[in-house]
Amino acid sequence: MSKIILTGDRPTGRLHIGHYVGSLRRRVELQNSGEYDKTYIMIADAQALTDNIDNPEKVRQNVIEVALDYLACGLDPAKSTLFIQSQISELCELTFYYMDLVTVSRLQRNPTVKNEIQLRNFEASIPVGFFTYPISQAADITFCKATTVPVGEDQLPMIEQTKEIVHKFNSIYAPESPVLVDPQALIPEDEACKRLPGTDGKAKMSKSLGNCIYLADTADEVKAKVMSMYTDPLHLQVSDPGHIEGNTVFTYLDAFARDEHFERYLPDYANLDELKAHYTRGGLGDVKVKKFLNNVLQEELEPIRNRRLEFAKDIPEIYNILKKGSDTAREAAAQTLSEVKHAMRIDYFADEELIKAQSEKYAR
Ligand code: TRP
Repeated sequence: MSKIILTGDRPTGRLHIGHYVGSLRRRVELQNSGEYDKTYIMIADAQALTDNIDNPEKVRQNVIEVALDYLACGLDPAKSTLFIQSQISELCELTFYYMDLVTVSRLQRNPTVKNEIQLRNFEASIPVGFFTYPISQAADITFCKATTVPVGEDQLPMIEQTKEIVHKFNSIYAPESPVLVDPQALIPEDEACKRLPGTDGKAKMSKSLGNCIYLADTADEVKAKVMSMYTDPLHLQVSDPGHIEGNTVFTYLDAFARDEHFERYLPDYANLDELKAHYTRGGLGDVKVKKFLNNVLQEELEPIRNRRLEFAKDIPEIYNILKKGSDTAREAAAQTLSEVKHAMRIDYFADEELIKAQSEKYAR
């Protein structure tokens, strides 16, 4: 069986380093590993509209921002199909049929949806489109028969929902030879990468909280954000013992620092464990740790930032890439949709047997 990757992001803002360690970095490695037959990367504009009904222009403007972030990180249109969700109308058709396989109470139990309903104060006035987006996400994942879905941990309930739809579809409509493919989520192993907190120490990086470091941030912006990061509120003097747990600077170091960074920027320590031990003992100031983190981040982000600026010089070409990718994705979606319709017994005009059998019935 082919190994196929699909994943994507909602274009509601530029991507930040939480996206990067949570999924982007991994995608690029997977793309370059040569182990996958195909890689699809989707800009989920239609899904973004489900909770941005009043703000279509925001979604429209951010499609290119996300595309630039993708290319800057090393997603390569020669190896990966980059496309825009709304351009694949087959996804709507698949969603419509999958809706028959999911109950309202199942959707109500989806932890991600529950959480997001709270976050957005939807409560009693949840748009149906938003409520059902896990079903549309199942269409995103199955149209290309994805086997592997690299995502952040918060997306696990979506993959779970997709698996249920796949199993139910196959068992009802295609018991002999399955049409849909069961996807596996791929989430970061590292705890710090699973959920990178905001620079203010809050649980999540989010644009509305203003606590993000963006891939497109300038060197000065990154530095200013790092130097004002949340650390350990009890660590007032350099000599005080400090806490690592819940200390955002150390969480970021967990996600980004490697031993060779110490050689280059902080040779007094061999590795992160030694640095943490000193901090915990007392006698190590926040500023020193922050300066180190800044060096580490700058090293990782500078090439991304520079590539982004290069790509941004030719915006029409980026739209070309997305258009080509969308054409490719559409072909795959049309193929799967025709198999789905065949399995569901709604392929009337393609089924000569049906027409023949009914002609015979009435000829008697
Ligand atoms: N729900 C994802 C997010 O909010 C975006 C997304 C849409 C996605 N469709 C997908 C991710 C399919 C993986 C697979 O980030």
